[in-house]
Amino acid sequence: MKPVNEFPSADGLWTGIRLAADAGVEAAIVVEQGAVRWVGARSALPAGFAGLAPHDGGGALVTPGLVDCHTHLVYGGQRANEFAMRLAGATYEEVAKAGGGIVSSVRATREADEDTLFAQASARLEQLLADGVCAIEIKSGYGLSLEHERKQLRVARRLGEAYGVTVRTTFLGAHALPPEYAGRSGEYIDLVCKEMLPALAAEGLVDAVDVFCERIAFSLAETEQVFKAAKALGLPVKLHAEQLSDMGGAALAARYGALSCDHIEHLSAEGIEAMRKSGTVAVLLPGAYYTLRDTHLPPIAALRAAGVPMAVSTDHNPGTSPALSLLLMVNMACTLFCLTVPEALDGVTVHAARALGLQDTHGAIAPGMPANFVLWNVREAAELAYWFGQQPVRAVVRQGRIAI
Ligand code: NIG
Ligand code: FE
Repeated sequence: MKPVNEFPSADGLWTGIRLAADAGVEAAIVVEQGAVRWVGARSALPAGFAGLAPHDGGGALVTPGLVDCHTHLVYGGQRANEFAMRLAGATYEEVAKAGGGIVSSVRATREADEDTLFAQASARLEQLLADGVCAIEIKSGYGLSLEHERKQLRVARRLGEAYGVTVRTTFLGAHALPPEYAGRSGEYIDLVCKEMLPALAAEGLVDAVDVFCERIAFSLAETEQVFKAAKALGLPVKLHAEQLSDMGGAALAARYGALSCDHIEHLSAEGIEAMRKSGTVAVLLPGAYYTLRDTHLPPIAALRAAGVPMAVSTDHNPGTSPALSLLLMVNMACTLFCLTVPEALDGVTVHAARALGLQDTHGAIAPGMPANFVLWNVREAAELAYWFGQQPVRAVVRQGRIAI
């Protein structure tokens, strides 16, 4: 990995590029001090910019930098064995009850020191970055104690600094009940709300708060307790909602002004209406749907009809979505969830940025915003959804620097 300060500056005039929205026309982007100063058709470029340092895109298609708005990137070990168990007939819930599932990653994460976690997560992050990711959310939730959640979140922050990529950290202390609290869910949630969250927030390690609200995780009442604690600290919330059953989590999250509700395979009409009213983003996670061989589709048509913004993310995690390509998720969002190509591309840019509260700095190429954009070796935008397993990145401008 190259030190970030050795990435060349992207300042200057980018030509020989085409914007995804209007791929037939040559475009130009002016970058000044790491921010976009001007973007539009090359034919409309103001004369004053013509003499800036040139960057030739070689005819590439350009999109905003991708945003992966839901990942569990930092963890110890891996869980290929559970994948095999599920193929032999066990369900995700059965694997979890047999001591596998999230808790097995908790064991491996607790055993690993910070440098080991950093090295393992770095290798995964590099793959996501190679696909054009310029901002990424990283959740805790495999530590489940103050010490080990802190370790995960510190690694997440370090990754952002080391790679010059925007990292938003999400505290997911309420991901699973740690084994030492078996049968004492209420006590654990108290610990999450009264000790873990306030301490980690005070250390500047928490940008948002998430809960796994599900039969095999935490109840609606417990979820609300965590939301209250987040609100008291002024932190935004998000939710793993209605993945395996309709718990009414989305409507609750919407009442707390949630940035996003994620998974939502079993989202109800009331949930959709609540999300519409609160402007909450629906985060679709086709990698988990695919890995679990789920057949219960999220209510895409109803979300679309309600105008709820839909984001798409990897949900990278060792249990249900060992996915390391956000572009592959774009493909799956189209093939499995029937998103249109523009919907899927908005889902990994503008709407994903909003799901993280990053809409002013990411997800678009617009004057005043930091320069985050990707040059792709494709003729038309639909190719970004069409190919899978291809790596069409030609160059990535991340935070005003040419990172790839
Ligand atoms: O987003 N749903 C809960 N959490 C993860 C799975 C975590 C795991 O199995 O390790 C998810 O799918
Ligand atoms: Fe998740």
